[in-house]
Amino acid sequence: MGFDGDVLLTLLTWERDYSSLTRIEDGQIILRESPYDPLVDVPVKRLIRMELAEGASTTSGEVLRSVPGDWLRPFLVQRYDEPPGGYRDFPRLGRGSPRMRDFSGKVAVVTGGASGVGRAIVTQLASEGSRVVIADINAESIGKTRNELADRGLTIDGMEVDVTRAESVNALAQRVFATYGNVHLLFNNAGVGVKEAKRRIWTLPEQDWQWAFAVNVIGVTNGIRAFVPTMLERGEEGHVINTSSGNGGIASLPTTPIYASTKAAVTSLTEVLRYQFLMDGAKLQAHVLFPGPHLVNTNILNSDLNRPDAFRIEGQAQAAYIDMKALADSSGVEFKLTEPEEVANMVIEGIRNGRFWILSKLGKSDERLRTRTRSILERENPELPQ
Ligand SMILES: NC(=O)c1ccc[n+]([C@@H]2O[C@H](COP(=O)([O-])OP(=O)(O)OC[C@H]3O[C@@H](n4cnc5c(N)ncnc54)[C@H](O)[C@@H]3O)[C@@H](O)[C@H]2O)c1
Repeated sequence: MGFDGDVLLTLLTWERDYSSLTRIEDGQIILRESPYDPLVDVPVKRLIRMELAEGASTTSGEVLRSVPGDWLRPFLVQRYDEPPGGYRDFPRLGRGSPRMRDFSGKVAVVTGGASGVGRAIVTQLASEGSRVVIADINAESIGKTRNELADRGLTIDGMEVDVTRAESVNALAQRVFATYGNVHLLFNNAGVGVKEAKRRIWTLPEQDWQWAFAVNVIGVTNGIRAFVPTMLERGEEGHVINTSSGNGGIASLPTTPIYASTKAAVTSLTEVLRYQFLMDGAKLQAHVLFPGPHLVNTNILNSDLNRPDAFRIEGQAQAAYIDMKALADSSGVEFKLTEPEEVANMVIEGIRNGRFWILSKLGKSDERLRTRTRSILERENPELPQ
């Protein structure tokens, strides 16, 4: 057979329909190795359709006969053409696709949506016709964002929320489900940077650890706990996108121990979230976003302005506002910045294509990941990164 590439397999099982993106290479269907992969873990009733990603629209018997292993052979293979009116009107064979291509009318919640990366995601989704709710601790920035988008004819909703407090995130979820019925896109994006550059781990105050973990990690788990149970219950396709960072989420820089360790936790918990959605055959998908490839031109250097009182250090003066662009322009050395809109494009494209790892190929991440992985596999001690 002459096709190599991505395929979307849809299986009708005794319990529910599963869709899964997999690959054909040299005429063989490549199954994922996870023991929890729904393709191999559930009693499959029959394969109902198979969609080739590029070019061909449906399967051929030839492709299916080349499936290796015993598990698929007994199943009746049938070809279905798209029913009149599309799959929406044909629920038994509903697309159940891992790809959300059209964001129009979808309900999106973006934590930290009033600035930087979150704000760019909000803007892009609103332009595509999504119903967007900003959840941010900074009420003034929410108002500003709403007004600016209103000037462009875009209406968005907003609520003052502190992601470090479960009751605050639960109140948000309650309001959103009551108003919109469901959530299709949950961006756990709120995050803070701590002024820790070049300081040693043993000198960093407890409040800095508590605050960064409360926002960057517990903020994400508060979002998952408040929204996912109802998203699952509604049974519609949905996405949970957690914002990590190349720093810690891929490999840790030696200068930012708190930030890097929070982002390592975000990558790890998002991988587990994916496994658990797969184990349950959920219609939800997890994604992990690594903004970049360069430092993103946002307000993250001013995170301290949004530090809740519970994490303030007594007697510490408020730091002066830092404009990242001005800092880059005045630095004299090469200091590349990525604009938040590029990150928004990357994440929307990643969701559309069903990607878990939403990570630019440009920049240093791949090289750092290779170096780190090699060091672990070879049991070699890590070198100080350049
Ligand atoms: N800027 C970068 O280079 C970069 C790189 C990698 C990852 N990230 C991550 O991207 C995400 C977005 O950051 P950004 O760079 O756009 O920064 P930003 O400071 O411009 O935006 C962060 C937003 O989060 C909000 N926020 C802070 N604490 C909150 C809380 N307790 N509850 C609710 N909202 C809160 C802020 O008010 C702000 O609107 C973060 O998770 C950050 O760690 C940023």
